[in-house]
Amino acid sequence: MTKPQVVSTVRAMCGIVQAAQRSGQRVGVVPTMGALHDGHLSLVAASRAACDATVVTIFVNPTQFGPNEDFSRYPRTLEADLAKLAAAGADYAFVPDVAEMYPAGATTMVEPGEVAKPLEGQFRPGHFRGVATIVLKLFQAVPADAAFFGQKDYQQQLVVRRMVADLLLPIEIVVCPIVREPDGLAMSSRNVYLSADERHKALSLSRALKAAESLVTQGERDAATIASRMQTTLREAGIESIDYATVVDAQTLAAIDRIDSLAAALIAARVGTTRLIDNAILSVS
Ligand code: PAF
Repeated sequence: MTKPQVVSTVRAMCGIVQAAQRSGQRVGVVPTMGALHDGHLSLVAASRAACDATVVTIFVNPTQFGPNEDFSRYPRTLEADLAKLAAAGADYAFVPDVAEMYPAGATTMVEPGEVAKPLEGQFRPGHFRGVATIVLKLFQAVPADAAFFGQKDYQQQLVVRRMVADLLLPIEIVVCPIVREPDGLAMSSRNVYLSADERHKALSLSRALKAAESLVTQGERDAATIASRMQTTLREAGIESIDYATVVDAQTLAAIDRIDSLAAALIAARVGTTRLIDNAILSVS
């Protein structure tokens, strides 16, 4: 079990990736903010299955956190992360500092497309501007052939896909399924903030999504009816602070009245002081 090679400068990282590609290797990148869990490790496994070399980036990106969000207390667990990456077989960990990714005087930001506007865009203004900016910078530092993202951040992967298409970036985006705890809780680095009681309440997010899926299986197609069931499930569990629990078009995130083919059920809610998100694709064949 060898630890991944830790690289901290853009220049060194880019050189390593380009040399690997010159020697015929396909390189995969898994962008993360660290505090790695099995969800991240499933992305590493997907990259390893599809690529010859895998780079995991670990960078807590300041520009995607709002002024009242958890940037300063976001879990930073580098040694444990590197041990997990060693066990998972990642080849490189790109761990830059803030000055490396945002050189003195840096003011240029990526303005993401329309898909960044609703939902998270409404409740976390500026969040996707920060995400798109850092993902583009990470793709510059790690000019990989493919990048692996989790479906857990559903809107994020749509924003990234749109940016890659709009800015003609030569990288394939692969989205991998949500990884859940045995009791259904979607894995998230923020789950460590939850007390035992809050963790119990948090199970209502996946329960609400299951209820949405069951309604669709039973033939329900009305988006408002399904959303209302999700909200009731959350409230019954004692979750009062719901940013959204909604059913929208799976590609555009636009509001829909009825599910015709593919929709996304998306939830963001606060459990105690911790904001959690979760989602499920609702498919009608
Ligand atoms: O999903 C995350 O962990 C972050 O938003 C990302 C993509 C690494 C950008 O900082």
